[in-house]
Amino acid sequence: MINYTDKIPNNIDLGRDRVLQRALEHWQPAYLNWWHDTGPTESHAYDVYLRTATSVEPDGWAQFGYVRMPEYRWGIFLQPRDEKRQVNFGIHKGDPAWQEVPGEYRSTLRRVIVTQGDTEPASVEQQRMLGLSCPSLYDLRNIFQVNVEEGRHLWAMVYLLHRYFGRDGREEAEALLDRRSGDTDNPRILGAFNEPTPDWLAFFMFTFFTDRDGKFQLCALAESAFDPLARTCRFMLTEEAHHMFVGETGVTRIIQRTCDVMKENKVDDPSDVRALGVIDLPTIQRYLNFHYSVTLDLYGSDISSNAANYYTGGLKGRFEETKINDDHLLSEATYPVSEVVGGKIIVKQVSALTALNERLREDYIREIESGVSRWQRVIDKAGIPFRLTLPHKGFHRAIGNFAGHFVSPEGEVLTEEAWKNHQHEWLPAPQDHAYVQSLMSGRVVEPGKFANWIAPPGRGINNQPLNFEYVRFN
Ligand SMILES: [Fe+2]
Ligand SMILES: [Fe+2]
Repeated sequence: MINYTDKIPNNIDLGRDRVLQRALEHWQPAYLNWWHDTGPTESHAYDVYLRTATSVEPDGWAQFGYVRMPEYRWGIFLQPRDEKRQVNFGIHKGDPAWQEVPGEYRSTLRRVIVTQGDTEPASVEQQRMLGLSCPSLYDLRNIFQVNVEEGRHLWAMVYLLHRYFGRDGREEAEALLDRRSGDTDNPRILGAFNEPTPDWLAFFMFTFFTDRDGKFQLCALAESAFDPLARTCRFMLTEEAHHMFVGETGVTRIIQRTCDVMKENKVDDPSDVRALGVIDLPTIQRYLNFHYSVTLDLYGSDISSNAANYYTGGLKGRFEETKINDDHLLSEATYPVSEVVGGKIIVKQVSALTALNERLREDYIREIESGVSRWQRVIDKAGIPFRLTLPHKGFHRAIGNFAGHFVSPEGEVLTEEAWKNHQHEWLPAPQDHAYVQSLMSGRVVEPGKFANWIAPPGRGINNQPLNFEYVRFN
């Protein structure tokens, strides 16, 4: 169970480690300042119906109740230790899992933890204005839940930095509160986390696509030989599931509402659809193309010696590493990787060790495909002849083998000029953003009411009715 009598809730017996406790209690006010400055805007006095972790067990870890977000019980929750856990891949395979950081991997592991940690506050910063245009109290509560849990994910990484990386770790923990999403001088580390999230369609796409990248990165780190990292990532994954749920169902409800309005009014031209105050399907497709492509970049270069070193050293595994039936060393294995040669996309076999980023990206794509086909079913059920498609993975890429090439969503390699001529058919144009934002000029706060552009969800949170007062403004 989690100890809530301490200033910092935890299940790591924090009170027994005075030095660590003091270091974290010193970081805590800086964190709260960060939340005040960059957390959800104007929200500090709201009572929000949030879940809080009470235990790390898979069943019943959550307790629901009204909380003011600055008083949310952020803390440190690790999955309990399995004394018999071993290293499951790489050259240390078969050794007991590490309880401390081996000197040789210190700087690499610190970098991995900082990079993961940096994404957590970034998404809170990206989403901070959205409360002002929420489509319902239900949705407002959900975005706040996502925000406080991303804040807790920052705590999870900061704990590791403080506990295992000494002074360097403390400095990194401070720096995590100093960088800002989209800041020109001191931006967040990864590209997708510096993109704005200007509206709710972008938010739902982000939580569907980019939080799912989070899931796959956490799954790879949950295999780590460094046991405290593995255990903290396992618990973070239980929180991540809700974020992806918010994204998937959010987009589903937008599509549902659009299809309902199209059928009711027998319209299908995007301008007619827009005249009825809902988001036309081609615009949804363009948002999808954008969020998918910038998220694919987060997996890094297709061929990466860093990825190989992380794996060989036991720092970062594959998705579901222990379920894979092979040598877990990848000394002989090969893996197919795409590249552009002479204006054509070709596939070549490379050492599987160097292709681990691409492999994780493909595991991710498989999950994305099934989510998109669930969205498609809503359109099919309405009898509307429109297909949502995932663009080719080379489309609109800035990192890896496709960077610098101009690939169409169909996978054709084009000239820069030809690609740019079609850009606004494929990616949201300024007028798309302007239209979507025009729908979201104010917030809907009457319990049980939903904005015109989104369908209500199938059910409420924690079995509460849809007209429950999920947020009280005070
Ligand atoms: Fe997170
Ligand atoms: Fe998340």
